[in-house]
Amino acid sequence: MQELFPGIFRGGKSLYTVNLLPGKKVYGERLVRQGGSELREWVPERSKLAAALMNGIKQFPVRSCSKVLYLGAATGTTVSHVSDIAGREGIVYAIEFSERSFRNIADLAAARGNIAPILADARKPELYNWIEACDTLVTDVAQPDETEIAIRNAHMFLNKGGFVLIAVKSQSIDVTKDPSKVYKEEAEKLRKAGFSVLQLVNLEPYEQKHALIAAIK
Ligand SMILES: C[S@@+](CC[C@H](N)C(=O)[O-])C[C@H]1O[C@@H](n2cnc3c(N)ncnc32)[C@H](O)[C@@H]1O
Repeated sequence: MQELFPGIFRGGKSLYTVNLLPGKKVYGERLVRQGGSELREWVPERSKLAAALMNGIKQFPVRSCSKVLYLGAATGTTVSHVSDIAGREGIVYAIEFSERSFRNIADLAAARGNIAPILADARKPELYNWIEACDTLVTDVAQPDETEIAIRNAHMFLNKGGFVLIAVKSQSIDVTKDPSKVYKEEAEKLRKAGFSVLQLVNLEPYEQKHALIAAIK
């Protein structure tokens, strides 16, 4: 087992994080023992951050004690791994606007203790302007204005030098355009807004027509 980044392990074709709640699964993933800890498999077909790790993202900002703002938490699959990595001293502010998904994320938050679930529209960050400044922003809302939503939230909540990870679904932005053109255009929007784009990671074969943009504020 190799430690790819602090708290993230790779063994063969599988990725793992250290389970914050030993014995508990979140989405049916495998649990394995490694030394004195329990690792939870992080499935790249179920999580764009895991797909980006498998496809060679060069810098991964989430680590122990991180403060993360996560837009589009859904039922908490990826949020749960971010919560594992950030650990008990870290926090994940998990924004989700679907009430149905929110119920799952609220249960997950109650069990884990380092997730703050927020039922809100990520297009209206003023509704959660009470949260503290964060060092990482992750967005996975699969909306046509994903990058604009990310920029607005980054301006409001991300520390200078903080990381932005944006999952871009080209089909949500323009079905008629070549996905690689869509990714470049979204990256250009970030540059124009003053961010430094570090890397554009194609997420295939785990997620068709998706890429992850990594940038710094
Ligand atoms: C692709 S799914 C996210 C999957 C999740 N990130 C994961 O890896 O487990 C997109 C989610 O974003 C939510 N969403 C879409 N637009 C949103 C918005 N404007 N504000 C908050 N949540 C939004 C959807 O309800 C959906 O749950």
